[in-house]
Amino acid sequence: MEITGKNFVSVEKSTTSKIDQIDFDNLSFGSVFTDHMLVCNYKNGAWEAPQVVPYGPITLDPSAKIFHYGQSIFEGMKAYKDSNEDVWLFRPLDNHKRLNISAKRLAIPEIPEKFFMEGLKTLLEVDEKWIPKKDGSSLYIRPFIFASGEGFHASPANEYKFMICLAPSGSYFSGKVKVLIEEKYSRSANGGVGYAKAGGNYAGQFYPTQLAVEKGYNQVIWTDDNTHEYIEEAGAMNIFVRINDTLITGPTSDRILDGITRKSIIEIAKDENISVEVRKITVTEVVEAAKNGSLKEMFGAGTAAVISPISTFGYKETDYDLPELTESYASRLKTRITDIQYNRSEDKFGWRYKA
Ligand code: PLP
Ligand code: COI
Repeated sequence: MEITGKNFVSVEKSTTSKIDQIDFDNLSFGSVFTDHMLVCNYKNGAWEAPQVVPYGPITLDPSAKIFHYGQSIFEGMKAYKDSNEDVWLFRPLDNHKRLNISAKRLAIPEIPEKFFMEGLKTLLEVDEKWIPKKDGSSLYIRPFIFASGEGFHASPANEYKFMICLAPSGSYFSGKVKVLIEEKYSRSANGGVGYAKAGGNYAGQFYPTQLAVEKGYNQVIWTDDNTHEYIEEAGAMNIFVRINDTLITGPTSDRILDGITRKSIIEIAKDENISVEVRKITVTEVVEAAKNGSLKEMFGAGTAAVISPISTFGYKETDYDLPELTESYASRLKTRITDIQYNRSEDKFGWRYKA
């Protein structure tokens, strides 16, 4: 095995590559992984130097606290390759900050910026040829931290692993997105962990989402846990609603993830002179707007999903179809944000980051 590593992050290169087995023209989301991964261990009260190693299974003690108490958080990012083969990230320092916000809430030790950024950049350098060039495809980046420390005592672990895995990916949704507005189950509650990217937040969504899928929907739109009257977010996306010509999204809170795509869209929309309101959205007003024709668009926004237009929403056993617009805000905003991400336009906001 070749061991390199000039800097802070050591690199152990894989002796073989799977890259020739990958059909880069037909990538799904997050189902094939590159040749390497980043591993960084937390032991004796400190993070050890990150290591890039060949991608593969890891060994954990069955009593590791991740299995029992769910101390697990993650991030979602993408690397984009432009026509000159330069590699770009989008607001990566915001992902680092949010990982540490999640870490704090789950009693996980925070990861210093240098470990996150240097680890990520080294891993991307090693697996650079895995970054897809096709428009709409990118390298999905999954940083995560979990409790590897052992023991059944219900208290924070004393050992953790910070890892990054990479998955060349196409779009998250194939086709139109049909959503069901949730009336019974909740994703999060005040004082809870909804604002963190905690693994358990997703586990708790699977059962209600399965029920929605059985009824023909792709996703649940979560409403507030108290009244189920306010639209909050979707399973893996923040939600935007366009009523007449105003774009509305709910305010972030204890219950909602502070999405990087969401906040970028708010800024781009303002820059496009679109009227934007960040305020609570009631289910009643959305249903009324659908009935009277003023509901023009609904879309989800997130790193994996980019901007995914919603074609239909279901509520109280009724489906409401959204109009098919030739010039939608969703497509306008998607073009603006992806042009910045893929280095096809100027970046007046300073969001693009050379990897
Ligand atoms: N909301 C949830 C629950 C998510 O999982 C995601 C995905 O990361 C988002 C919103 C969108 O966040 P971002 O735009 O930072 O990817
Ligand atoms: C992302 O958009 O990066 C996410 O984390 C969504 C994921 C749950 C698929």
